[in-house]
Amino acid sequence: MNTVINPAKSLNGTVVVPGDKSVSHRSVMLGSIAKGTTHVTGFLTGADCLSTISCFKKLGIDIEVDGTNVTIHGKGLHGLTAPTETLDVGNSGTTLRLMSGLLSAQPFNSHVTGDASIQKRPMGRVADPIKLMGGKITSKNEKLTAPLDIEGCKLHGINYTLPVASAQVKSAIILAGMYADGPTTITEPEATRNHTEIMLNYLGADIKTEGNAITVNPVEELTARDISVPADISSAAYFIVAALICPNSEVTVLNVGINPTRIGIITALLDMGADIELKNERIVCGEPVADIVARTSRLHGTVIKGDIIPKLIDEIPIIAVAACFAEGETIIADAEELKVKESNRIETTTAELNRMGAEITPTDDGMIIKGVHKLHGAECNSYDDHRIAMSVAVAALAAEGSTTILDSECSNISFPGFYKLFDTLREA
Ligand code: S3P
Repeated sequence: MNTVINPAKSLNGTVVVPGDKSVSHRSVMLGSIAKGTTHVTGFLTGADCLSTISCFKKLGIDIEVDGTNVTIHGKGLHGLTAPTETLDVGNSGTTLRLMSGLLSAQPFNSHVTGDASIQKRPMGRVADPIKLMGGKITSKNEKLTAPLDIEGCKLHGINYTLPVASAQVKSAIILAGMYADGPTTITEPEATRNHTEIMLNYLGADIKTEGNAITVNPVEELTARDISVPADISSAAYFIVAALICPNSEVTVLNVGINPTRIGIITALLDMGADIELKNERIVCGEPVADIVARTSRLHGTVIKGDIIPKLIDEIPIIAVAACFAEGETIIADAEELKVKESNRIETTTAELNRMGAEITPTDDGMIIKGVHKLHGAECNSYDDHRIAMSVAVAALAAEGSTTILDSECSNISFPGFYKLFDTLREA
């Protein structure tokens, strides 16, 4: 599918964006291994989270989906059963990485694969610590990428320092660590999203965080509890930036997760002079939530590097869009992880925004964006990367002339209904 986006004269109103992808994945995984029934509300029915549901069904769990309500009939920590076919994670790195940790501790072996993009994403980062715990994740490829064979093993607790700041790897080790014969401590180079820790403690586990060290003690049982998923800050980000760069705009995004490990984009945009307000801050199922208001702003360049990077890693393409409309230069550094996302996002962000008249220079660990104030419409590629397609769409709202996004349906990975939702905010 191709989508044509015309410029917006203004964007005004209130939107509800889909549930948080990270929290939705974890609700299925942890609900499946908790004892009892979990009712999830606000679940993201994007393709990635549906892949997680399909994998856990193949592991013997009954799961019912009714719109954004999901019911999981958990069978307890030792209730998963051997899959009779390959587990297919589709495009979802989170499913692959977290599930690999969990499967390493089961009394059966599994075979896991995914789409062409997943088959390029590095898995040594999960296999290495799992090996130290006594597990075995192997691949026929030298580079250790999916398809993977995961042997179910008796695991030992470890002390492990993560070589890359990755919530997916941390979470894989935490899930394996719950089944180990002693405590596991993971030290992160920089703090990453902590939804696994929060949800596990909400379900009765004992996960302690001290600075950047997370300790997980062996768990006897998790107890099912209902989970309300907040809206995804990573999805809200497109509406926030659209409001900032389109004229005469004010957009409110309701019920957005504002976990401190996720709101690097808000910090960065405020540093750039954005008019953003957080309202009605509250805690839901252990996660902080707020309504976010964003208004047309005069932005200026900034420097984004160091420990803020994991807190905005998925938002760098859309931050780059904001930076194109800012005064002066924005430098993004320490973000080499962008190269191993759904596409090489240093290359793909640079190529597609430059096609629209941006002046972005890619670097080895990020990019330098010269503010140009205006972009023009173009025919752009998505590279089947949802965040590239959606970032280009937002750039197109503030560009001159119309933009065509090729293979635009990849937005369904994390945001079903994305393009149409903007039409509800346009001037009639
Ligand atoms: C995620 C962690 C991040 C992020 C991904 C979701 C998660 O990946 O990019 O979209 O849910 O744990 P890394 O942990 O690989 O940085």
